[in-house]
Amino acid sequence: MNVTMVGAGRVGLVAAACLADFGIKVHCVDNQLARIEPLKKGKLPFHEPGLAELVEKNTKAGRLEFSTDLSAAIRQSLVIFIAVGTEEKVPGTSNLGPLFTVGHQIIREMTEYKVMVIKSTVPVGTAQRLREELEKEAKSDFDIVSNPEFLREGSAIENFMRPDRVVLGTTSDHALAIMKDIYRPLYLIEAPIVVTNNQTAELAKYASNAFLAVIISFINEIANYCDGTGVDVHAIAKIMGLDKRIGPKFLHPGLGFGGSCLPKDTRIMLDFSKKQNCELPTIAGSIKTNDDICGYLLGRLKAHAGPLKGRKVCLLGLAYKPHTDDVRDSRAMDFTRLLLAEGAHVQAYDPAANAAAAEVLNDDHFHVASSAYEAARGADATGVLTEWNEFRSLDLKELKKVMAGTVLLDARNVFDPDAAKAQGFNYLGRGRSPKVAGVMSVKSSGKTGS
Ligand code: UGA
Repeated sequence: MNVTMVGAGRVGLVAAACLADFGIKVHCVDNQLARIEPLKKGKLPFHEPGLAELVEKNTKAGRLEFSTDLSAAIRQSLVIFIAVGTEEKVPGTSNLGPLFTVGHQIIREMTEYKVMVIKSTVPVGTAQRLREELEKEAKSDFDIVSNPEFLREGSAIENFMRPDRVVLGTTSDHALAIMKDIYRPLYLIEAPIVVTNNQTAELAKYASNAFLAVIISFINEIANYCDGTGVDVHAIAKIMGLDKRIGPKFLHPGLGFGGSCLPKDTRIMLDFSKKQNCELPTIAGSIKTNDDICGYLLGRLKAHAGPLKGRKVCLLGLAYKPHTDDVRDSRAMDFTRLLLAEGAHVQAYDPAANAAAAEVLNDDHFHVASSAYEAARGADATGVLTEWNEFRSLDLKELKKVMAGTVLLDARNVFDPDAAKAQGFNYLGRGRSPKVAGVMSVKSSGKTGS
């Protein structure tokens, strides 16, 4: 079967490579020549573990090809996946322009039945609206399937190949049979395939992301509370996580949720629920808690390091999470901006996101370094903002030696507080006071998950 993937972004490119790996012929199309030309030579536009190898393997096998020619790809394909961005032009509102533009392009090219599959995250009712709009100019029958993507950056291939579930929203049996054929390899590994209508599939995606946002904000609130009470938030998370109704995942406090999905999707959810006169106070609260974390951590840093104007601060981590070079809506970038607004001189290092950050933060007082130690040289304080493994294995003695000051803000709790203190650091963890005897006496076979 031939399919087209419209959009070679973080969802589209991963999905295209994985579908090709299932044995399907995939035409991956993007209107940005600057993205497609390098892809043809095997050069990826972003960092995602394992993706370069998968793209290379499937391109060589002739199952994956890249082009800017959407018309040609549509003509050859029975199924067209749409994975274009829905980034907000106006904060809090989704931008469905690119999706509808692609929908019109598809319908204009169609001379026989085809299935359009919406992979982009879209508000409830979008598939129906698209159908109503396209029906007016359709020359042949078509179906629209809502197939939201639940992959996470950094583990995208594993998530696509071994998903917790695949959601297929459609009322067409014909389209459903075609989609089931595409996802046949996932049937074989018994991945749950949930068949529902378009609206349910659309809202399930938002509800899932909003729930994750609520959990993260919840544990961050508990971390704030731990700072005031002298209790270790990790002990709390472990005890909570052992309750099977709660589970251990997503109970890591830090700078809050960032990236291109959770912040945007929670904002958009509030917007479209308001339009339907429905309040979502829990989700609204999770956004407020998230928005306040960077300011709260800045306050803690200043309380220990003093005023930051003209002082050097080393920041480790700029990506919104490890294993990605993505700085979109990164909390680490927000924290950096706050420091710059305080007049601090920031020396930052991220294993993958230096270039992306430097492009966005065009500020004379912001510099990227080629290693953690270089970033820390002469710094009055250091902050760890992204939990890259590389930072966990830093030599704290060496770090301390190259720094001018002693404050270590470990916003992601990557270091052992006692080890940091033993090197003379003024250690500030996240909801993590000094170890108190007995606090971690819970012996568990599982670890607190991520
Ligand atoms: C998120 C969802 O997890 C995916 O299921 C969804 O498919 C995706 O959005 C999407 O809508 O496309 P992603 O943004 O890649 O995936 O990253 P997550 O791993 O969920 O992390 C999001 C943010 O939450 C990061 O800033 C991370 O640092 C933060 N986080 C996560 C925490 O602060 N604590 C945690 O315990 C977990």
